[in-house]
Amino acid sequence: MDPQKKIDLLRKEIEKHNYYYYVKDKSIITDLEFDNLLNELIKLENKYPEFFDDNSPTNKVGGSVVNSFTSHEHEYPMLSLSNSYSEQDLLDFDKRVKKEIENPEYVCELKFDGVSISLEYINGKLSKALTRGDGKRGDDVISNIRTIKSIPLNLFGNYPSKFIIRGEIFIKKHDFNELNLSRKKNNLDEFSNPRNTASGSIKLQDSREVAKRKLSCFFYSILSDELPFNNHYENVIQCENWGFKISNDIYLSKNISDVIKLVNIIDKKKNELPYEIDGIVIKVNSINHQNKLGYTSKFPRWAIAYKFKTQSTKTKLNSISFQVGRTGAITPVANLKPVLLSGTIIKRASLHNFDYINKLDIRVNDYVFLEKGGEIIPKITGVDYENRDSDICEKFIFIDKCPSCNSNLEKKDDEANYYCNNEHCPTKVKGSIEHFISRKAMNIDGLGSETIDLLYKKGLLLNISDLYKLNKNELIVLERLGEKSVDNILFAIEESKKNPFEKVLYALGIRHIGETVAKKLAHTFKNINILAKASFDDLVETDEIGDKIANSLIKYFSVKNNLIIINELIKSGLSFKIVNKEVKSNILTNKLFVVSGVFESINRENLKNIIIENGGKITNSISKKTSYLVIGKNPGPSKIKNAEKLNVQIIKEYEFFTKYKLKN
Ligand code: IVH
Repeated sequence: MDPQKKIDLLRKEIEKHNYYYYVKDKSIITDLEFDNLLNELIKLENKYPEFFDDNSPTNKVGGSVVNSFTSHEHEYPMLSLSNSYSEQDLLDFDKRVKKEIENPEYVCELKFDGVSISLEYINGKLSKALTRGDGKRGDDVISNIRTIKSIPLNLFGNYPSKFIIRGEIFIKKHDFNELNLSRKKNNLDEFSNPRNTASGSIKLQDSREVAKRKLSCFFYSILSDELPFNNHYENVIQCENWGFKISNDIYLSKNISDVIKLVNIIDKKKNELPYEIDGIVIKVNSINHQNKLGYTSKFPRWAIAYKFKTQSTKTKLNSISFQVGRTGAITPVANLKPVLLSGTIIKRASLHNFDYINKLDIRVNDYVFLEKGGEIIPKITGVDYENRDSDICEKFIFIDKCPSCNSNLEKKDDEANYYCNNEHCPTKVKGSIEHFISRKAMNIDGLGSETIDLLYKKGLLLNISDLYKLNKNELIVLERLGEKSVDNILFAIEESKKNPFEKVLYALGIRHIGETVAKKLAHTFKNINILAKASFDDLVETDEIGDKIANSLIKYFSVKNNLIIINELIKSGLSFKIVNKEVKSNILTNKLFVVSGVFESINRENLKNIIIENGGKITNSISKKTSYLVIGKNPGPSKIKNAEKLNVQIIKEYEFFTKYKLKN
């Protein structure tokens, strides 16, 4: 037989058996027969490398090692779910839904406790696997995802030509225990819980290691311009026919009282499941109804998560230690006698701040109550005062010196925390550098906390502005860094100069200035000099800026060292003012564009930028006002249909560029 044909046949055969075994949980051949097929394919693929295919089932054992994952924009943002904790919360949700929808039908699903993944399939082939990231952009971890046995690389049946499917990657309790046993045997640190193990695994650089972790995945949502049904339930069920693993625990409920009954039943049986869940997800079934209800900036209004009541336990508080945050806040941490809670061994828990310890009168050697809800970090919720042995439990006295730099700590009456106010405190400085380079701030990849520590110790990185003074000769001699890593770091630092003012302002790490406030301040004051000189009254006049933020800004700009650092950053070319998008021409003025599909010569964001820079406008959906629909490969069929219906001209990417004599 023609080797290509034989390879194709074997791949299809093996995929079929993977599907039966990992998706349908039944096998129709023996392990030996399966191994024989796989070995035959491996042999042929080695003999005929010209027929290599990323999506071959032989890639399920992993193989590639990546240095960094590329980040991509999510075509549909990856939102989170609002939470509910009681029957009343569910009734309130139903009431909100019923304001818009008569007789909503609900779908109830398990809330799998793992890490979410967003897969893109084009023409039935897995083409991207994005992590959630910040919800807008995620990392493509496709080489790791290919190793997950229940995830199909090539689909069967009648699937849409392009779609996104989302699900939760997790590790079954049994597989987790086995993994830890084998780690123990090999003298490796044991993992603390299945959820963190799953989320850590998909970001590993060596996909062969990922293949060993026995990850599973259930899918719970599909997004496409060409959905097969107009309700969520049938769409999800349909996905199984294309090769995806769908949980059997998916239920249709006619009304909220049925939902509540189901929630109570699942709550009782949840511990018997072979994997961990932290609640139930309730979704409005009809896609039209979902669209009508829409979204807030964070959540869909058509879905809610019901979180199970927290589990609790009691253990001994052995000691209290202290961490210094980047703002100088001192966080006390409880060191506990290790105890098992919701499947995790707990050794430490945050005690939040001085007031928290004081209010509960927590003392070393006390027995404390611990709770763990859906969140990863357990909480200390109380003290077993009756069990207190006053001979060994002395009233806790908070430290008065910084554990990092030994300077005096300060506490204002209206604040719950003690602070280290030494601008040069090493832990604070390193924390501020870590914040500055973090993804949501300047997004400088490649510098981990150990490298920052090393650079700090060598005197090369004593504040954030030193980042822009690092050079190759200094870095290359460091024992931890190879030439490629150094090049990557320097490239990322250089690229970060392109960040807009609002990001830079957030990256400075001023207390109480989160992303949203930074954006507001940047757009209101437009320029760091104006912001630095703004009075308390100027600041609080701004929408959403209260006393706390105003005081924090005034304090920050009154510190000479901060102004020196800002000046250095300005000299290095960072953006400290709002720059309006440069208008290159007005040839597209008054023209309204919709873009759809995958473009060959340019990525979608850059195409949009070109349109805007030349005076055009972009919208997401076709209307009578749309001038052109610009299409790449696999454009959304509903966009094409609407454009045809409304007589909107459809042009391909090269036609767009030639028509307007623009360069891509
Ligand atoms: S739907 C628009 N369904 O829970 C929101 N999420 O707290 C779409 N999760 O990020 C999410 N099981 O990682 C949905 N059956 C399920 C889920 C589920 C687990 C996770 C998912 C999501 C998080 C939200």
